[in-house]
Amino acid sequence: MKIFAHRGCSGSYPENTLAAFRAAAELPITGVEIDVHLTKDGGIVVIHDEKVNRTTNGKGYVKELTLKELKQLDCGSWYSEEWSEEKIPTLDEVFDVFENTNHRLNIEIKSDVFPYDGLADKVIDLAAKRGFRNRILLSSFNHEDIQSVVQGKQVESAILTFEVLVDVYDYARVIGTKRIHVSLPSAFRKMTTDALRKGAIVYVYTVNDVNYAEELQRIGVHGIFTDYPEKMLAHFA
Ligand code: G3P
Ligand code: MG
Repeated sequence: MKIFAHRGCSGSYPENTLAAFRAAAELPITGVEIDVHLTKDGGIVVIHDEKVNRTTNGKGYVKELTLKELKQLDCGSWYSEEWSEEKIPTLDEVFDVFENTNHRLNIEIKSDVFPYDGLADKVIDLAAKRGFRNRILLSSFNHEDIQSVVQGKQVESAILTFEVLVDVYDYARVIGTKRIHVSLPSAFRKMTTDALRKGAIVYVYTVNDVNYAEELQRIGVHGIFTDYPEKMLAHFA
């Protein structure tokens, strides 16, 4: 079963920071999951929420701040003073961290609240420019964006779901993918076992308990997103 560091090693470092990604880059795991938004001036930044309030010392929507304004914020102190020098990374800076590793990057397009027109295309273009095109896996709760990616570009893509759904594999096939990223509460439901039986590639978020991880492996889940990849590696070694 593949292990992805969720928002980097976010259990031990502030989420979606270069510190969290550097820690992930040191581990023999499949890859890392990161969340991307678009700034006011069109930059691709790595942060989870639409607003900067929770994880920085600033306020406001990412889409209403320029890259220069965002770069002035401290995105580590909320987690621990030790990380007060951390700045919101750009996608380009995250590519730098993984330039000389074999890790895959699951880039979650955070266009489910604001559409961020063109974000997926911008991500793919930058990945291609940086030599990461075959190492990225796009996902989103915005399935319209995933459908556009699948139809227009040859980049691996997954739909993200939170709810328990019916016939999710057939739905994913309509969109054009076999990849489904499901929440832990849905993972043990008929929705997921049916999808696995039909041939879906299923990853589950966010799995921080090794007992759940073992059970997921037993039912044939292909990958997990975890805040504690170190712990999962130690358990499955
Ligand atoms: O991509 C898996 C997971 O990150 C989706 O939810 O809210 O943690 O971005 P969230
Ligand atoms: Mg995410």
